[in-house]
Amino acid sequence: MNTKYNNWFDSKYYHILYKNRNHKEAKIFIKKLLKHINLNTYSKVLDAGCGKGRHSIEIEKLGHLVTGVDLSENSIKFAKKFENSNLKFLVHDISKPLNTEFDVVLNLFTSFGYYEREKDLEILLSLEKNLKNNGTGVIDFLNIKTVKKNLVKHEQVTIDNLKFKIKRKINKLSVIKEISFNDKNIDYKFQESVNTLSLKDFEKYFKNTNLKIIKIFGDYDLNEFIEKKSPRLIIIFKKKSQSN
Ligand SMILES: C[S@@+](CC[C@H](N)C(=O)[O-])C[C@H]1O[C@@H](n2cnc3c(N)ncnc32)[C@H](O)[C@@H]1O
Repeated sequence: MNTKYNNWFDSKYYHILYKNRNHKEAKIFIKKLLKHINLNTYSKVLDAGCGKGRHSIEIEKLGHLVTGVDLSENSIKFAKKFENSNLKFLVHDISKPLNTEFDVVLNLFTSFGYYEREKDLEILLSLEKNLKNNGTGVIDFLNIKTVKKNLVKHEQVTIDNLKFKIKRKINKLSVIKEISFNDKNIDYKFQESVNTLSLKDFEKYFKNTNLKIIKIFGDYDLNEFIEKKSPRLIIIFKKKSQSN
């Protein structure tokens, strides 16, 4: 069971393998997403599971006050180089709320579903606590239906002279990716395991929160979600207003 934090995300090799998931991709997506959300300038934005901060950096450039958090100490160390008075990064577990409320809370590029299912709900509730009433949240997850349909069981890719051998499998609970390679005569093996969460599973989670799904997109161009073919499951939600 994937109960503890995966140090794969903290290793430099994760960033080599996912090199194409870069600032360019983040910039285009963020521009479209924020246009859709229609934010006032200087809105407070939390990027929960920010990695090296590629989305946070782009959001701050558009005039917002951004906090990026991640459990990966190495990623945060890197992201901190980009800090300024409107952009801050910290090492933090997203299952624990920060004691600030944000206008927008983002959880992008599959930064969800890495633990047991109770913890998924804990993370969602923590995102809720970090949202102001009527604030907007986004979870950008993989579309489990197309992952299943298009699963490439074995693949070999060479990036920066490293030969990554990738094995993928899927069972009822998780999609598992095993990544092995040799660097400077040392063999490495990492595993990425993500819960097989469909839209229905998310809807069940949301029923236990004070959050309401308002829109679902299926890719980074914000086309509609079609379960049979969309590459992503991008859930836009609002925190229902509560009187205190
Ligand atoms: C696939 S990466 C995406 C990173 C970033 N959002 C991006 O688009 O580049 C998933 C991220 O979730 C982070 N993560 C996983 N569990 C976390 C937790 N409990 N608290 C904070 N970050 C977490 C990992 O460290 C990793 O950086």
